[in-house]
Amino acid sequence: MRMTVIGTGYVGTVHAACMADIGHQVLGIDIDAERIASLSAGRAPIHEDGLDELLARTVASGRLRFSTSLAEGAAFAGTHFMCVGTPQRPDSKAADLRYVDSVVDGLAPHLRPGTLIVGKSTVPVGTAARLAERLADMTPGTEVAWNPEFLREGSAVEDTMRPERLVVGVTSQHAEAVLRAIYAPMIAAGVPFFCTDPATAELVKVAANSFLATKISFINAMAEVCDAAGADASVLARAIGADSRIGPRFLAPGLGFGGSCFPKDIRAFAARAEEIGAGEAVAFLHEVDRINTRQRQRTVERARRLLGGSFTGRRIAVLGAAFKPGSDDVRDSPALVVAAALHQQGAEVRVHDPEAVDNARAVHPELTYALDVDKACEDADLVLHLTDWPEYQDIDPAALATLVRSPVLLDARNRLDPRSWAAAGWAVHAPGRPRLS
Ligand code: UGA
Repeated sequence: MRMTVIGTGYVGTVHAACMADIGHQVLGIDIDAERIASLSAGRAPIHEDGLDELLARTVASGRLRFSTSLAEGAAFAGTHFMCVGTPQRPDSKAADLRYVDSVVDGLAPHLRPGTLIVGKSTVPVGTAARLAERLADMTPGTEVAWNPEFLREGSAVEDTMRPERLVVGVTSQHAEAVLRAIYAPMIAAGVPFFCTDPATAELVKVAANSFLATKISFINAMAEVCDAAGADASVLARAIGADSRIGPRFLAPGLGFGGSCFPKDIRAFAARAEEIGAGEAVAFLHEVDRINTRQRQRTVERARRLLGGSFTGRRIAVLGAAFKPGSDDVRDSPALVVAAALHQQGAEVRVHDPEAVDNARAVHPELTYALDVDKACEDADLVLHLTDWPEYQDIDPAALATLVRSPVLLDARNRLDPRSWAAAGWAVHAPGRPRLS
């Protein structure tokens, strides 16, 4: 089948390459000419496992091409996936829909009757209906469907090729048939396919992200209670997670969530719910957001206490800058927010990250970056573990203890083995856990 994918960010690039790989003819479109040139040469704008190979293969096969022209896109196919960003508005917590609107307005004059526009971006509920209305005046007979994307950064290709579910919101049997045909290999492999109305499909996405964010903030709230009670939130998390109705994932007490999705999605959802008169129903999301942000402040305060009340003249090693392991993305990264706050409050901060140093430096040039863990930790008064990269679990705490000025570890992600660090002479602190040393 033929389709365009408009917007070649994370979602669009991966979707375009995966659709071409399962046999479709795909034209990727973006307004950024430099990005289109690089994609046309088979180079991905982002770092994702398997994406470079996938792009090279599908571009070479001729099934994937790129262009900057929406007019060319409208002539090329009757199905258009819209994958543009919906960031937080600068002046409020609502979603900024200017990119979505400009794609629709740009396409409209070129569309032929019977066109299907399929939104993949995360949007406020009601967006598909609003766009359909907007298009009705310009190009009658164009349908707007919604097909939210659930991929995670770091496993984007795998999540797109083998999703846990597909959700499509349509207003006609024709649109359902087109989307079933596009996803036929996944449906044949047993991936559950939920076909519903566009409003429900839009809501599935924000409800899923809200639930996951709530799960994280719930366990972080429990960690605060454990801190006050002298109890152990890690054991608590494992014990409640053993109940299959709760489940152990997304239940690690720690520094909380960041990235380009959860924080802005829960804010935009709360703002939209208020607009449609359902604000009270999701008022708890404000608390989820507050709990999450508080973990960053609590980490800074805990570091200050561990250093005797002042950062001045103290050296802190920060392990991790990316918003999560497996990604070089530093957008709303809790680790970087903490590192910048420590620096701003007078500490000498040295940051290590296996992938994200370049991106981190671009946003926080005032911080010092180290190429390896040893360099970051040399003469440190405190080591802070802020992004749970698997390689940090391989650190030899005994060897590291010989490099630091004082062997004090604050494992803000609760992922390092406290016993082996304590056995190597470290004072080990972690949120929601009694001190081990
Ligand atoms: C998230 C969702 O998992 C995807 O399904 C969704 O498609 C995507 O947002 C989106 O809306 O586009 P992503 O932001 O890539 O994906 O990352 P996650 O792996 O979900 O992690 C989100 C944040 O939660 C990270 O900062 C991570 O460190 C944090 N986290 C995760 C915790 O703080 N604690 C946990 O126990 C688990």
